[in-house]
Amino acid sequence: MNSRTAKTDEILAVLKTIRLSAKDQDLVSAGKIRGLTHCDGAVKAELLLDGVAPAEQERALEATRKALKAIAWVTAANVSVAESAPATTPATGNPVGVRNIIAVASGKGGVGKSTIAVNLAAGLAAMGARTGLLDADIYGPSIPLMLGVRDAKPQPVEGPGGKQLFGPVSAHGVKLMSMGFLVEEDKPVIWRGPMLHGALRQFFSDVAWGELDYLIVDLPPGTGDVALTMVQTVQLAGVVIVSTPQQVAMLDARKALNMFSETGVSILGITENMSGAIFGCGGALRWAEEQGVTPLGSIPLDARMCASGDDGIPAVLSRDEAISGPLKRFVREVVSAVDRRNAEAPARKPLSIKR
Ligand SMILES: Nc1ncnc2c1ncn2[C@@H]1O[C@H](COP(=O)(O)OP(=O)(O)OP(=O)(O)O)[C@@H](O)[C@H]1O
Ligand SMILES: [Mg+2]
Repeated sequence: MNSRTAKTDEILAVLKTIRLSAKDQDLVSAGKIRGLTHCDGAVKAELLLDGVAPAEQERALEATRKALKAIAWVTAANVSVAESAPATTPATGNPVGVRNIIAVASGKGGVGKSTIAVNLAAGLAAMGARTGLLDADIYGPSIPLMLGVRDAKPQPVEGPGGKQLFGPVSAHGVKLMSMGFLVEEDKPVIWRGPMLHGALRQFFSDVAWGELDYLIVDLPPGTGDVALTMVQTVQLAGVVIVSTPQQVAMLDARKALNMFSETGVSILGITENMSGAIFGCGGALRWAEEQGVTPLGSIPLDARMCASGDDGIPAVLSRDEAISGPLKRFVREVVSAVDRRNAEAPARKPLSIKR
């Protein structure tokens, strides 16, 4: 475990000792903590205190500051009231039977999101987890090609109550759904807002995902409409941010980080892709540490990654450990981050699809 994770764990352990009143759960279990970060001994946190009387709010803030300052390495504790409940709270569009929905996002295009999403999904499936992959890049779906099922077509299947559902396409043990299956490759897709929202919602509600341990969602680049619609449609276990080691990509990654934090989505961590001689090495992970976000390892820049995408066989499945090793470690880091997040998050009610 690196020092960053240990420090965050230390902060969470302290926050777990604080309750708003004797009958309440602690702040962490009750999901009251937002925007937790630390840097050089300065800790910043926001508390969700909707409906709490002003005097009580002040008491909670003061108790939290005091508890944080009691940690040996903490030099400053900036604790304030979070604006309001996150927009994601009422999102109840999670497909029944799907346990963890994980989004893969970046601020910038072309940093390897789809490559990472494909390898995460195939790596989870290879570990024996029931896994789905939703290519939410409605404008430029690339996953069918990367999984070697470009010409496949989702078959209609009958769902509960006779509802017609799309049967996902199966590839390397992963259940896949993509707009690439539904539109012709050389015809550009022009979406207006409501159509886009509808299409994305249907990907969650009208696909026969069945029982899944993980559903990975590959997002288009940036923090636009698709990402926002998703966080308003489903409750995510969290998001994996992909960045290259370059400064400019990191600035863009910050935008993605802020957008997800502001909507109350857990940041599972950041992975550095295309690490190596050309773009440098470790920059994104150092940046992650500074942001108080879990580094999820780096994936080297390697021509075989590109080739495996074109061949339709994810690199994580390669027998050559030099290429599959870093990807397998990344997959395990994500599993641990989801487990940690689920242990910290308040118990979730069973969710059902809105019809
Ligand atoms: N670690 C790597 N080493 C070498 N090539 C890579 C690596 N990761 C991704 N690539 C290649 O870089 C290109 C872009 O990757 P990918 O399509 O996964 O990025 P993306 O972030 O999903 O792009 P977009 O923003 O367009 O959706 C692809 O050709 C892919 O094969
Ligand atoms: Mg992509």
